[in-house]
Amino acid sequence: MPTTRTQVGIVGAGPAGLMLGQLLHLADIDSVIVEDRSEEYVIERVRAGVLEQGTVDLMRSTGVGDRLEREGMRHDGIYLRFNDDRHRINMAALTGGRAITIYGQNEVVKDLIGARQASGRPLYFEVSDVSVLDLETEAPRVRFVQGEERHELVCDFIAGCDGSHGVCRPSIPASRVRMYERGYPFAWLGILADAPPASDEIVYSLSERGFALFSMRSTTITRLYLQCAPDENLDAWSDDRIWAELMARLRTTDGWAPNVGPILQKAVAPMRSFVVEPMRYGRLFLAGDAAHIVPPTGAKGLNLAMADVRRLADALQDFFKRGTQHKLDDYSDRGLKRTWRAQRFSWWMTSMLHKQEGDNPFDYRRQLAELDYLVSSQAAMTSLAENYTGTPFD
Ligand code: FAD
Ligand code: DHB
Repeated sequence: MPTTRTQVGIVGAGPAGLMLGQLLHLADIDSVIVEDRSEEYVIERVRAGVLEQGTVDLMRSTGVGDRLEREGMRHDGIYLRFNDDRHRINMAALTGGRAITIYGQNEVVKDLIGARQASGRPLYFEVSDVSVLDLETEAPRVRFVQGEERHELVCDFIAGCDGSHGVCRPSIPASRVRMYERGYPFAWLGILADAPPASDEIVYSLSERGFALFSMRSTTITRLYLQCAPDENLDAWSDDRIWAELMARLRTTDGWAPNVGPILQKAVAPMRSFVVEPMRYGRLFLAGDAAHIVPPTGAKGLNLAMADVRRLADALQDFFKRGTQHKLDDYSDRGLKRTWRAQRFSWWMTSMLHKQEGDNPFDYRRQLAELDYLVSSQAAMTSLAENYTGTPFD
C-alpha cells in the first residue's frame, strides 16, 4: 500500500477542512485533505449564508477574501416580523459597528478550493473507505481508497472535519466521549428563487402558521425557508403551495412581501442540537459539524466551524514551530465554551420563532410578548445583536 507522510491529515473538504488546510499552508505546515464527495458536489451544496464578522476577517486575512469583498452583502441589521409587522434591529449601532455578511457557503468553499489548488498541496476528492487508526499514538494514520488503489497517510495529527455523518467521531471509543443531543420536532424547507430580494436585510418571522425566513444570495437571488415537519414530503409541495405559504407567513400590513420568481432549488433540512465532549481524542482533533450541530435559526454552524479551525491551526503552529502543547491541550475547553454559547443562542432563537406541536394560544401570546419586549428594549436588542454578529475569534 503506498504510504505518504504528512504533518496533518485532514478528513473532509467542507468549510472547516478547507480553511484549516489554508491556515496550515500559510504557516508552512503540510497537510493532505481527503474528501469522499466530488468537487462539483461539494461546490454546489447549498447550505448556510450568514458570515459573522470573525469569519469575514478570517477569509480576508488568509487571502481568500477578494470575491467576498466584491460580492458579499454586508448587513448592519436584521428584521423580526411578528403580528404582521417588521421591526428592524440595528445590530451595528448596538455593537460598535459589528455586522454580518451574506455570502453563500458554497461560494466560501469554491474560494477555498481555488486557494488549495493554487497552493499545489494535495486535496483528493471522491475517495472511499476512509478510516482513522492509531489515534492514541504519535503517528496516527488515515487510510482511504482512491480509484482502485488503497493509500495510507502517516500523520503527526488528524483533523476530523468530516461533518456530522463522518467517520472520525465514531472512531473514538464510546467510553472516552460524552454526547449531548436534542432533537427538534420540525425541519426547514428551503428554496432558492430567481427573484431580486425584496428587502435589503434578512427577515425572521413568527406567524400563527409557523416560522419563515427571508434571506438572499445576490441582487437577483432570494433564499427562503419555512418551518415544516421533520418527515415532510417535498413532492407534496408544489411551487404554488410553497409561495402561498411563504406569503402567508412573511407578508406585512404595510404591503411588504418577498418577490416571486422561478424556484431553482428546494430541499428539507432536519434540525438538531448536538455536542461531543471533549473535541479531542489522542491526536485526533474534531472541528466543525463533526463536533457539534446547532439548529440553523441562529446562523452559527459555519461560523463555529471557522472559529474551531482558526484555534486548531494556531495550536498546531505553536506545536510545530515552538514545540509547545498547551494550546492543543486547551483546544477542546475553549471550543466547548463557544459551542455552548452558540447552542444557547440558537435554541433561544429557535424556540422564540417556531410553532411547537401541542402549543396553545397561550404559548403564541408568550412568544409575541417576548418579541415585543425584544424590539422595544435596548438591553434585549443588544444581547441579540452581540450574539448574532458573533464574539471575536480568539
Ligand atoms: P461539512 O460542511 O459537513 O463538511 C464535511 C465534509 O466532510 C463534507 O464535504 C463531506 O462530504 C465530507 N465527509 C463526510 N464523511 C467523510 C468521510 N468519511 N471521508 C471523507 N470526507 C467525508 N448552517 C447555517 O448557519 N444556516 C443554514 O441554513 C444551514 N443549512 C444547512 C443545511 C444542511 C442540509 C446542512 C447539513 C447543514 C446546514 N447548516 C446551516 C450548517 C452548516 O452548513 C455547517 O455547520 C457547515 O457546513 C459546517 O462545516 P464543516 O466543514 O464542519 O462540515
Ligand atoms: C440563512 C440561513 C440561516 O440559517 C439563517 O439563520 C439566516 C440566513 C441563509 O441561508 O441565508
